[in-house]
Amino acid sequence: MQGKKILLGITGSIAAYKIPALVRLFVKAGAEVKVVMTPAAADFVSPLVLSTISKNTLSMHLSTNDRWENHVMLGRWADLMLIAPASANTIAKMANGLCDNLLMASYLSATCPVYLAPAMDEDMYHHPSFTQNCERLLAYGNIIIPANHGELASGLIGFGRMAEIEAIFQHVQYALQQTQRLSGKKVLITAGPTYENIDPVRFIGNYSSGKMGLALAMAFASEGAIVTLVIGPSQLKAAHPNIEQINVQSAQQMFEICQQHFTGANIAIMSAAVADYKPKHLATEKIKKGQEAHLTIELEKTIDILKTLGASKRDEQLLIGFALESQDEEAYALKKLKEKNADIIVLNSLRDAEAGFMKDTNKVTLYNKDERKTTYEAKSKRMVAQDILEEVINIINTK
Ligand code: CTP
Repeated sequence: MQGKKILLGITGSIAAYKIPALVRLFVKAGAEVKVVMTPAAADFVSPLVLSTISKNTLSMHLSTNDRWENHVMLGRWADLMLIAPASANTIAKMANGLCDNLLMASYLSATCPVYLAPAMDEDMYHHPSFTQNCERLLAYGNIIIPANHGELASGLIGFGRMAEIEAIFQHVQYALQQTQRLSGKKVLITAGPTYENIDPVRFIGNYSSGKMGLALAMAFASEGAIVTLVIGPSQLKAAHPNIEQINVQSAQQMFEICQQHFTGANIAIMSAAVADYKPKHLATEKIKKGQEAHLTIELEKTIDILKTLGASKRDEQLLIGFALESQDEEAYALKKLKEKNADIIVLNSLRDAEAGFMKDTNKVTLYNKDERKTTYEAKSKRMVAQDILEEVINIINTK
């Protein structure tokens, strides 16, 4: 990030109080930061703190006394513009090209990539107008750093919590990376759970969130790869121009999409928690409660996507699978590596408190087909994705 210029827009949201820490991370990484804030943002974070930490003058108004702020130059100066937190109000203005403050004027004049990290209460986050505005911004080529699920300023728990500072920093860091080490590579990634229907209202599923797969998609896309993300039922939405997200429901649907894309892929990473069994018969009507105390649903095996792709893998392709185990972890991971013809198995153990479904952290060990084993400490799923990315690049470079 050394020497890179970041124009940081701050809007009126309680999450603005976290931004000085982000500015500090940018400055420590060698970036030059200029802050533009809306007048409403000043209610939540001190301009003095921001100008001190950024070591730059801060701008808020289109003109001050007899001085006109050159918003065109601000927009052109930056290598990247980040708006964090981006309130629902500012996002609506951005989607419609409104220009009633310096931040909006700078946004409309920006010739660099624009990233935004929305922050708002859950009901606002789910309002159809917000969804439509985001779609417009994506169509303009802006990149949205998705909000998290968590505790909100209102005291409610839900979606709309601004992405963590570390995650925002990483998005920007990836974006500013000069060398894209996977340009021209095609990557296929599966993520999330699968749902296997029992009848029109019930299914067999699991608690996988899709977070690990999404973090992988982001990491590989940020290195210039073109990523196809095939994801089972999940609220998550990838927001990167290099990622095509295909939403599926069942193991069979996931398999069919993977089969279409695998031949053209250089790298395939199967991080989905695919159901191993599905109901043998799908009831066309809702199953009614009977007199019997027990109900048996006969199950049959689903197709093993990783194993099937492994069987047709070409030498130059890299195939990575995951293994979630609760006992005899290493033995099972090595068995999967061999039986599924994978190049790497990423093992996570249910015995590790930091690993598993719905968590933001993971703790993994990588087993390579060349018998190398690398154990990593517990870290965020984004950082785990970065470790896997580095290992893949390492293998490609030494092939
Ligand atoms: N996998 C898959 N298709 C399936 C089941 C699993 O592609 N029908 C993939 C997963 O995406 C993961 C790997 O296989 O990359 C291992 O999944 P896991 O459930 O741990 O292993 P299984 O082979 O299903 O064995 P078990 O559940 O008995 O551990």
